[in-house]
Amino acid sequence: MASLKLSQIKKAYGSVEVLHGIDLDIRAGEFVVFVGPSGCGKSTLLRVIAGLEDITGGTLEIGDQVVNALTPKQRGIAMVFQSYALYPHMTVFQNMAFGLTLEKGTPTSEIDRRVKEAARILQIEPYLDRLPKALSGGQRQRVAIGRAITRDPQVFLFDEPLSNLDAALRVQTRIEIARLHEKMAGTTMIYVTHDQVEAMTLADRIVVLNKGHVEQVGAPMDLYNAPDNLFVAKFLGSPSMNILPATIERAGATTRVLPDGASAVDLPIATPHSIAGSPAHLGVRPEDLSLTDAPDAPFRGEVALTESLGEVTLIYVDIGRADEPFVAKLPGEVKIARGTHVALATKPQAMRLFDEAGQAIRLAMRRAA
Ligand SMILES: Nc1ncnc2c1ncn2[C@@H]1O[C@H](COP(=O)(O)OP(=O)(O)OP(=O)(O)O)[C@@H](O)[C@H]1O
Ligand SMILES: [Mg+2]
Repeated sequence: MASLKLSQIKKAYGSVEVLHGIDLDIRAGEFVVFVGPSGCGKSTLLRVIAGLEDITGGTLEIGDQVVNALTPKQRGIAMVFQSYALYPHMTVFQNMAFGLTLEKGTPTSEIDRRVKEAARILQIEPYLDRLPKALSGGQRQRVAIGRAITRDPQVFLFDEPLSNLDAALRVQTRIEIARLHEKMAGTTMIYVTHDQVEAMTLADRIVVLNKGHVEQVGAPMDLYNAPDNLFVAKFLGSPSMNILPATIERAGATTRVLPDGASAVDLPIATPHSIAGSPAHLGVRPEDLSLTDAPDAPFRGEVALTESLGEVTLIYVDIGRADEPFVAKLPGEVKIARGTHVALATKPQAMRLFDEAGQAIRLAMRRAA
């Protein structure tokens, strides 16, 4: 059981800095998920925490100890990678025991106990005598996780552990990882993924990274409902939040916003009068839109494309001068011919407002207050 404290963590490869001063507090026993675009520094940050890369600047504390100069083993950390790299000539048992047999002085009975306990947690007891080639991809990844468990780490790091698995196995193994976190109560877990569902369902808190810095940290639904900026707003959610360039027509207790190519909307957001006339961005999630006959519906245009996904239909509408089509996610199967004129409406409280620089305006108000 260990907390982690990252203070101004920097990492450079030669003259190229890829982490620009990361501050992050992780509570003991917490499940934290790192997300962000490819190349933003997720794996690098994980490797820096693990001690597989040296730290260029800042301090890393695990528990109450500064660990910058400690080896991975001294840090009490175990890491599971995307490619599970099991030893092909060793049985599952031997693979899981391998790290422990290297540690001189661990009695055979203790190794046996720890491997069997890990196998029980991961439900791979029936396979202990098999070679990896006789296992499915999901079973192999569980062996790799088991190898990490036997080392009894204080902190568990996962770098996209499920990305090599097919869709059904991903779901199953994801649920197992959630259970694993419950069973290993108190073990701190940091998990990197590209998969939004994994991030939303596994995380106590999500850390959104972008170009080597932290954009926002928070509980999944807090990030989803109240993104601090356009980057986080667009990154979480699928399809992404629709963003329209807009002008703030009137500020005050409520704010009137005129999106490009749409009609004005009144938002229940208080803004200072000085902001009237400023450019802004209006955000609406696809799932918050619905088809309407209302004559005053703000978003109108021709259907460019529809996609039926089974449980939902995505409707892409060309509205105004937006660069990207406006997307609505409607429940069930909705049949609308391409070229049909449609009107879309949403609740005022479902819309998000961002300033010209992309910062959420609710935050600007909080600062101003
Ligand atoms: N050993 C290295 N030497 C030089 N540059 C590196 C090295 N490892 C990573 N980088 C660079 O650091 C940046 C961050 O890479 P990193 O692997 O952490 O990204 P990531 O967020 O994990 O991406 P992905 O989602 O594709 O796995 C990238 O620009 C990458 O090219
Ligand atoms: Mg990576």
